[in-house]
Amino acid sequence: AADPATDEEGSGLAVYDPGFVNTASCRSSVTFIDGDKGVLEYRGYPIEQLAEKSSFLEVSYLLVHGALPTKEEYDAWVHEITFHTFVHENIKEFMQGFRYDAHPMGMLMASVGAMSTFYPDAANISDPDNRRLQIIRLIAKMPTLGAWAFRHAQGKPYVYPDNDLSYTGNFLSMLFKMSESKYASDDRIEKALDTLFILHADHEQNASANAVRSVGSTQVDPYSSVAAGVGALFGPLHGGANEAVLRMLRRIGKVENIPAFIEGVKAGNERLMGFGHRVYKNYDPRATIIKQQALNVFEVTGTNPLLNIAMELEKIALEDEYFVKRKLYPNVDFYSGLIYEALEFPPEMFTVLFAIGRTPGWLSQWLELVQDKEQKIARPKQIYTGERGLTFVPRDVRW
Ligand code: ACO
Repeated sequence: AADPATDEEGSGLAVYDPGFVNTASCRSSVTFIDGDKGVLEYRGYPIEQLAEKSSFLEVSYLLVHGALPTKEEYDAWVHEITFHTFVHENIKEFMQGFRYDAHPMGMLMASVGAMSTFYPDAANISDPDNRRLQIIRLIAKMPTLGAWAFRHAQGKPYVYPDNDLSYTGNFLSMLFKMSESKYASDDRIEKALDTLFILHADHEQNASANAVRSVGSTQVDPYSSVAAGVGALFGPLHGGANEAVLRMLRRIGKVENIPAFIEGVKAGNERLMGFGHRVYKNYDPRATIIKQQALNVFEVTGTNPLLNIAMELEKIALEDEYFVKRKLYPNVDFYSGLIYEALEFPPEMFTVLFAIGRTPGWLSQWLELVQDKEQKIARPKQIYTGERGLTFVPRDVRW
């Protein structure tokens, strides 16, 4: 609704749009989504092709640079990222100072923010070479921080990066080395995790990208902006849905209980978690790819009773008029939690995995923002609903 009375800057129009549902906050050439057709493209390339034929580091290059790398560019990119996987020993000590039961997302958010003090050069965001260095550092170090947060919760010693390994192989090694996990070194597991990172790498103006842009619009260093993105992702409405799917599947317990559960959903008692999306009113293209990866992972880890419930739920819901009429299809979270659980990640780690995958997306959007001459400091308008012009009465008179 237009309310010129509250338009303090005098442009003549104030639009009330909570959550910016209908208001574009920026121009972007990073990610395209057509929710009605179920299309997701990074820099114009369909997600299906990238998930099948590319790697997370190549997709990161594509997102950040806007074009696919030549062989020389790719080799240099992989080399530079591999070279920067270690973090300063004092960051390690900083992380070791957290309580034994600290949430790994809290540890990740704090340690990413703390990195701004270790790299004060990052404040110089007008220098392109300097920006590139910080982007490389962040993409390289996120798995190290994430793996250490994981091991902290288990009371296990942190494992240093092994730069003979691939990006995702190195992450698995830092997570599971010296532990009992028998799956970590299997190529199918590495491919599944790498694919999940690709699928999560960007999703245009989601809440965490918006947080990165909003904080970045003050021209602060990228560590501070990305820490804000991690904070936004921490919220249950953003990164927490796959955990909710697992809780739901456990509650259903067995395939025979599905019809009664579906009836409860249709009666409006609860939602079918992992179904429906604000933007996708067709199959979430990421869900199809994740489903295949879940099947690959279960080939290695053995099947899981929760997977059978998930497959049956999906089958029933896709044929049920309630879901068909409302265009409710599985979203990216429907199967991702099952994969993470099969790999023995505790639910608190699910969002950390999301954050590692989303880092190149945040940074591509941050880069786009700081180079965009039209951008301004993020300072939305408000519609003021409070009192005006009251006279203050001091306490000794008032009481
Ligand atoms: N189960 C049952 N019914 C649903 C579901 C669901 N998962 N999602 C939507 N509906 C129904 C609503 O009750 C409503 O029905 P009505 O028209 O009879 O009132 C209709 O479908 C439209 O729902 P809205 O809430 O308007 O849809 P919106 O686009 O606002 O919601 C959301 C999208 C929040 C994702 C929703 O589908 C939902 O809650 N899903 C479950 C949670 C989930 O999986 N979240 C992860 C999203 S993906 C991500 O964040 C990476």
